[in-house]
Amino acid sequence: MQKTYILAIESSCDDTSAAVLCNDKVLSNEVANQEVHKQYGGVVPELASRAHLQNIVPVVAQALKKAGVNKEELSAIAFTRGPGLMGSLLVGTSFAKSLSMGLHIPLIEVNHMQAHILAHFIDEGQAKPQFPFLAMTISGGHTQIVKVNSFFDMEVLGETLDDAVGEAFDKTAKILGLPYPGGPLIDKYAQEGNPKAFQFSQPNIAALNFSFSGLKTGILYFIQKHTADNPNFITEHLADICASVQHTIVEILMKKLKKAVQQTGIRQVAIGGGVSANSGIRTALQSMGEKHGWKTFVPKFQYCTDNAAMIGIVGYYKFLQSDFTQQGVTAQPRLPISQLAN
Ligand code: KG4
Ligand code: ZN
Repeated sequence: MQKTYILAIESSCDDTSAAVLCNDKVLSNEVANQEVHKQYGGVVPELASRAHLQNIVPVVAQALKKAGVNKEELSAIAFTRGPGLMGSLLVGTSFAKSLSMGLHIPLIEVNHMQAHILAHFIDEGQAKPQFPFLAMTISGGHTQIVKVNSFFDMEVLGETLDDAVGEAFDKTAKILGLPYPGGPLIDKYAQEGNPKAFQFSQPNIAALNFSFSGLKTGILYFIQKHTADNPNFITEHLADICASVQHTIVEILMKKLKKAVQQTGIRQVAIGGGVSANSGIRTALQSMGEKHGWKTFVPKFQYCTDNAAMIGIVGYYKFLQSDFTQQGVTAQPRLPISQLAN
């Protein structure tokens, strides 16, 4: 089999990442997290693009070195065109364009959310979903249920009408005084808490859509009320609060997934995006699968949060179709997954 080497670059938000793939296998996947945002309680776009500028050259060099691949051996450069933060996307886009021009190799644009879904096709010897399958993309910017018809044909069946589920985790963490990004910390404390300790009301949203802004407000009022009575309420009940919030979010997500399976009759269900690293969601999906006879697909941790390996796998499948991008391409902060065809 012919060997295709793809260098992939991801810079849509606050992680600078570069990966090298040989066909559908990952040779390296380097991620530089930006610590600078912690003190602000969220991503500051201007600081993110500056940090990408500082990180991109060393991260790409490290990815090539770890893979043991020379620039001259590369078959193509894949990069995230969108969706994401404009300033952040511009850094990866410009870098990829220049490198492809300098090396005289094809350039391949990738949709970030398509990549979160197709991360399941990175070959590590595991079972892969078969088309069509359902994918729930859950990240800091998105919450969607997608019908995946093929690598390049995806339909959004439902999505959030306001906040993304990652925001619900991060904003709850902020209310609790935890640093950004709070999702992983809520997950950690939740493991020692009682998920039924506190009750939060769940939104009643039509069809396969979601809403998380009401939950966030509910949590804020709950904390304000209890800390007025007891200033130590958060520290005394942190694990129970985190477990209860996580339990509520998991229930909201699983109810909609169940509905999506009932509506479509598709019984293969995958999750993707940063929030799919959440232990409560991973366990819940697995047990839903066992209970209802679904085949479930949960990504490896390193392919959940933003990473360039997932950009590389899409790049590889586009390379096989000679689906290349012209040098005139620009970064695109809004790039719907339902419009993947060029
Ligand atoms: O996909 P991602 O890395 O970036 C975007 O494309 O948005 O997702 C980041 C989101 C953040 O909101 C972060 O708090 C959340 O994923 N996250 C988690 C966990 N790990 C990351 N949320 C809950 N539990 C986790 N273990
Ligand atoms: Zn992402």
